[in-house]
Amino acid sequence: MARVQFENIYKRFGKVEVVHDVSFDIKDKEFMVLVGPSGCGKSTCLRMVAGLEEPSEGQIYIGDRMVNGVDPKDRDIAMVFQNYALYPHMTVFDNMAFGLKLRHFPKAQIQKRVEEAAATLGLENLLKRKPKELSGGQRQRVALGRAIVREAQVFLMDEPLSNLDAKLRVETRANIIKLHQSIQTTTIYVTHDQVEAMTMGDRIAVLNGGVIQQLGTPQELYDRPSNMFVAGFIGTPGMNFFPGAKVVAEGDTTKIVLDGMGQVEVPADYAKIARDAAGKELTFGIRPSHLEDAALVGEDSQRSSIDGTVDVVENLGNELQVYLTAGGKNIIATLDSRSRVVAGNKVKLYVENDRMHLFDTATGEAFF
Ligand SMILES: Nc1ncnc2c1ncn2[C@@H]1O[C@H](COP(=O)(O)OP(=O)(O)O)[C@@H](O)[C@H]1O
Ligand SMILES: [Mg+2]
Repeated sequence: MARVQFENIYKRFGKVEVVHDVSFDIKDKEFMVLVGPSGCGKSTCLRMVAGLEEPSEGQIYIGDRMVNGVDPKDRDIAMVFQNYALYPHMTVFDNMAFGLKLRHFPKAQIQKRVEEAAATLGLENLLKRKPKELSGGQRQRVALGRAIVREAQVFLMDEPLSNLDAKLRVETRANIIKLHQSIQTTTIYVTHDQVEAMTMGDRIAVLNGGVIQQLGTPQELYDRPSNMFVAGFIGTPGMNFFPGAKVVAEGDTTKIVLDGMGQVEVPADYAKIARDAAGKELTFGIRPSHLEDAALVGEDSQRSSIDGTVDVVENLGNELQVYLTAGGKNIIATLDSRSRVVAGNKVKLYVENDRMHLFDTATGEAFF
């Protein structure tokens, strides 16, 4: 097992630079997720760890060894791809054993490793089957098994669940987490799906346009996104943004005024930062679950609220997902299921003001 480091990595294809100055330090045994929209450079980063691409600049370390220029087969990594094609004419056992046979492992050792991996993945009873006799989820587990038997220092997984249907994806996601808990191999996991990232990662690096936007634990990214990209990308539904926010200071009180919609009292901890930011173009941000029907909240709702008109109410049983128009913008609020909001009516939404965010509209950077 090993840590993996990127030091100021750049990658260019011809003149096009697709990875810009990426640095990170993945700890031994850590499960690190690289997440971002399609084309942001996730696979390229992973392929550079694997040695399938060489960085244009910068150093990559696996353990204490700089691996730039080292052949993929000498890097001690195992990879699971989205297209994990198994050999159709081989049994599950032989599919899992294939890589070890190629490397001339002794037969007894191959037997032992395949059996152990099969036990870890719940494939013991399927070893004699051919891939066509397996479900999609079982095949995916065989692909994982093929990686596990290598007992590599690092696992690299590139969107390994994207060929599975929604239910199986959730199941296999849990399987991969359990697998990591039991074998604890350092893992780099690439996905475009922020829910996968949030549920699986010890830490997450959010990439956009070949640049790391933020690197942190799932909770850090959710609570303290460092810019509007991360704020909008992490969390479902995404954060509501209100451009044109004004900071107004009245004595000891600092407020954010949203023209024609309402106002929100800035918590004491953030008041100075808000006042200092007052000269800039500002965007106010609040997550759907940090809005509530003011009718269900006490006095607090007077000081921090937004007025809107309800467009659609989706009752999910445990909560309401409400689509509204506020200040000419479409927003989403996740309300308590006791709320009696009705489509077409006006509503006052309480803003949990200690969960508010304020961004520099020009740069997207968060003040808080
Ligand atoms: N071999 C290549 N030659 C030229 N451009 C490439 C090559 N591989 C990837 N790219 C480009 O690099 C960018 C990042 O690709 P990729 O890392 O595959 O993104 P992701 O995995 O995040 O979807 C994309 O614009 C892609 O078209
Ligand atoms: Mg990719």
